[in-house]
Amino acid sequence: MQKIVVKGPASSANLGPGFDTFAIAIDGIYDLVSITLEKQKGIRIKVKRAKIPSEVRENTGGLVASNIFEEFKISEGCTIEIQKGVPAGYGLGSSAATASAVAYGLNKLLDLKLSNSELLRFAASGEVASAGVGHYDNVAGSLFGGFVVVRSAESMDIVNFAAPKNLGICIATPKIPTPPKKTGQARAVLPKSVPLAYMIHNLASASMMVAAFAKGDIDLIGRAMSDKIVEPARASLVPGYHEIRRMALKAGACGVAISGAGPSMVAFVNLKKVKAAKVAEAMKKGFASAGVGSEIIITKIGKGASVLNR
Ligand code: HSE
Repeated sequence: MQKIVVKGPASSANLGPGFDTFAIAIDGIYDLVSITLEKQKGIRIKVKRAKIPSEVRENTGGLVASNIFEEFKISEGCTIEIQKGVPAGYGLGSSAATASAVAYGLNKLLDLKLSNSELLRFAASGEVASAGVGHYDNVAGSLFGGFVVVRSAESMDIVNFAAPKNLGICIATPKIPTPPKKTGQARAVLPKSVPLAYMIHNLASASMMVAAFAKGDIDLIGRAMSDKIVEPARASLVPGYHEIRRMALKAGACGVAISGAGPSMVAFVNLKKVKAAKVAEAMKKGFASAGVGSEIIITKIGKGASVLNR
């Protein structure tokens, strides 16, 4: 096999209490990454439809490829063509979408037989190019799909759950410019230590969210979407944050959170009870209350990186 085309989906990390631990893959928003193996040594990057760096070590996909080629002493080279579908800098795991697609694609193309945790480690090494920090949640969501829990401590543990059938997702993305290295800035505002009561709240909420996904209980998933540590510190980075939450919940959302490091917001909807369009409209009004326009996406939790064709 000389060429592969991979879909790397967008993702939404944290989901309230699961900072750097939880993510979902988002259905319908993705990067398309085509990788062609060539005799000529070196990695060449072509970027379509986006202003992202094409220098190999500054490009999230390029960095992943270069780490893989180095570690496995691959004597050939490759051209990576990236067609961005995930907007960069809006909390939808844009860099992770590309990084995951490259790791996934090279694993297949070079027949590396990487384990899930090795795949994750390579994909996360690409995040450093854009975020300046290696965190695993977005890449885990993008690679494996569904609702993903990742724990990177003594060992790398990854568990993912399929989404309940009637769980709808609304994403609202504000039409505001975002700074380069935005994730780094959104991490700089976080507290260095937290009161025990907040830690207990988040631990209980996060545990409950995992239990709720295991049971497929949509309303419980939504109730568990509650964070007393990270979101309060980041609220001021999302124009209209409090109104968006209030209005989305009033419209029937079962839970609302900042998507990743923001500024997009994500809401969960029990489609058996509530129309997702109503919640999406409420989120739009929430941004509008702060004088900001927004793009609304109504979708579902999606699957992980996949091959488009060979
Ligand atoms: N967990 C990361 C953060 C996700 O919130 O900083 C970034 O998309």
